[in-house]
Amino acid sequence: MDIQTRIKELRKQINEANYLYHTKDQPIISDFVYDGLMRELIELETKYPEYDDETSPTKKIGGIVLDAFKKHTHTVPMMSLSNIFNKEELKVFYDRIQKVIPNTSFTTELKIDGLAVTLIYEKGIFKKAATRGNGVVGEDITENVKTIKTLPLQLSKPLDIEVRGEIYMSHKTFKEVNLERANSNLDLFVNPRNAAAGTVRQLDSKVVAKRRLDLFTYTVVGASNFNNTQKETLEFLSELGFPVNPHYKLVDNLDALSDAIDNYDILRKTLPYDTDGVVIKVNQFEHYETIGYTAKYPKYAGAYKFEAEKQITQVEDIIFQVGRTGVITPVAVLTPVFISGSLVSRATLHNEDYILNKDIRIHDQVLVHKAGEIIPEVIEVVMDSRNNQAPFEMIKHCPACESSLERKQGEADYYCTNNNCPGKNVFGLIHFASRVAMDIDTLGEKVVELLHDQTYLQTIPDIYKLHTFKDQLEELPGFGKKKVEKLLNAIEASKMQTLDRLIFGLGIKNVGAKVAKTLLNHYPSIALLADAKYEDLIQIPDVGPEIADSVTTYFSNESNQHMLEELKNLGLQMTYKIDVVTTHPFNGKTFVVTGTLDDFSRTEASDIIEKLGGKVSGSVSKKTDYVLAGKEAGSKLTKALELGIEVMDEATFKVKINE
Ligand code: IVH
Repeated sequence: MDIQTRIKELRKQINEANYLYHTKDQPIISDFVYDGLMRELIELETKYPEYDDETSPTKKIGGIVLDAFKKHTHTVPMMSLSNIFNKEELKVFYDRIQKVIPNTSFTTELKIDGLAVTLIYEKGIFKKAATRGNGVVGEDITENVKTIKTLPLQLSKPLDIEVRGEIYMSHKTFKEVNLERANSNLDLFVNPRNAAAGTVRQLDSKVVAKRRLDLFTYTVVGASNFNNTQKETLEFLSELGFPVNPHYKLVDNLDALSDAIDNYDILRKTLPYDTDGVVIKVNQFEHYETIGYTAKYPKYAGAYKFEAEKQITQVEDIIFQVGRTGVITPVAVLTPVFISGSLVSRATLHNEDYILNKDIRIHDQVLVHKAGEIIPEVIEVVMDSRNNQAPFEMIKHCPACESSLERKQGEADYYCTNNNCPGKNVFGLIHFASRVAMDIDTLGEKVVELLHDQTYLQTIPDIYKLHTFKDQLEELPGFGKKKVEKLLNAIEASKMQTLDRLIFGLGIKNVGAKVAKTLLNHYPSIALLADAKYEDLIQIPDVGPEIADSVTTYFSNESNQHMLEELKNLGLQMTYKIDVVTTHPFNGKTFVVTGTLDDFSRTEASDIIEKLGGKVSGSVSKKTDYVLAGKEAGSKLTKALELGIEVMDEATFKVKINE
């Protein structure tokens, strides 16, 4: 391939990856591969300036800004750092600086793998936060950042100051968030950085608060106005109340720099969050201007990138799993290999596009690592080992039921179109019987799989018909009289489980345990919920368009209706006891909540009113009994006063709710 074609190809690949990573939060290639492509492009562009192009991805720093958040123009652009990939390059970096400023000292800091944020304070009070965006214009994420526990809302000094840092998600939180998502039938986040980026982009800051994001700060805009060195800046940030990663160091020669990097590479494996390198900065600010900048990067700092532990192994097969929502997930079956402390034999391939982009084929040798040190992922194919493997082709029919698959518009995933697909049901059945849903403890994963294979269990109602096969069940491997009796008793007992567990157990997309309760508190029976209209559902606090859509789609499906009818006839609980107190003075009263309350969000106050038997309406009318008014209440308060409706302040509300 000639140089110009290669340059064009690299630019196209990087542009695509940039868009998916920065704008869509959907990385298709790993950082390692991305950095490699970028490095090759930078090298070629430097060597062949005749192919220079002002639209090359090397000219810009980031991605495109979405419209959903307000834009924020950075006071000083948020640059990124040039990468240092090995010890030779470290020496080049060091020597280059040493030549300009002899006997320089450097700080080394862990490079936290999250997303960059800028934090603006006025007179020591937190005012605004923004993402990097394209480096010049970012997104205003103030409300979301405010929810970060470690962010100081007030500094120890009343300074006007802009601070930069990295938002990240800890391994523990990442696991918890993914567990919750699995329980709510939602797609999992690929790695902690992806989870943090997805969270920061949430429009509802309440969701963000629950995700427990974290923060480390590492620099101040115009740092030399406050301090003389980077080390002092880090100490200064700590003094002001900012979280600063404690593992920074001051070193003053190349050997010490190299040793520090080796030590960080050991240390990072023990840390509860992801790091992807070491940031090296000249310590004395007075040298910054002398050392200078390239078009994109400061020359007085660099990012030494760690190599993620990776291994080569073979793709023995590509198999397909059917999820509970019918989503088809391709999975690579690998020759088992040890990576970052555990044996890896499977890696998710996410979807068709992912496989085609990387051109992964059965029998290929592939490079595998653990994304975020957790999830096995195929990084790339070792092309040198490619023989005549056939290109990957996505299956056209469901691996479980042979029905045709459908790729929805705008989605990368294929779905099985058969509502009664047995493939969906194994997972559906396991979920239905699980501890978090109907809690049939003797009907675990292995038992469900066995009964499913033996065709006793295909649908949820089949669970409640198992008793008719009592004799046959006793003959199954590992079963027997006692075990079958225990199983059938547990199934019988589960008929009395509350309806919220049943609804959750059905595996309706976006309907987790909590949402099931919320829905039933408004529509306390299957019949009522099945009749609920989309327009009514979205009125419920915490129920958005996605949930309302899944619920109405689910109940309008004939085979689901039939199944629920069967469950009713089999004797399951079909009504719900609302968690409402009916003896409270709020019972039967209609409230309008307006203005800003100190101790509750409006949704929280509404929930309390409803729990106590009251109703909450959006507008004031003669039918309104009380207007609960917080600070800066506007037209609703005026109207209440006009109509002579009783206005309740927050203090009175708090007293009343305890009556
Ligand atoms: S200093 C001129 N220090 O890595 C940019 N960055 O490519 C100065 N990062 O965008 C950045 N930990 O998002 C710096 N201790 C640290 C860092 C750090 C993570 C991120 C940051 C930046 C990127 C550098």
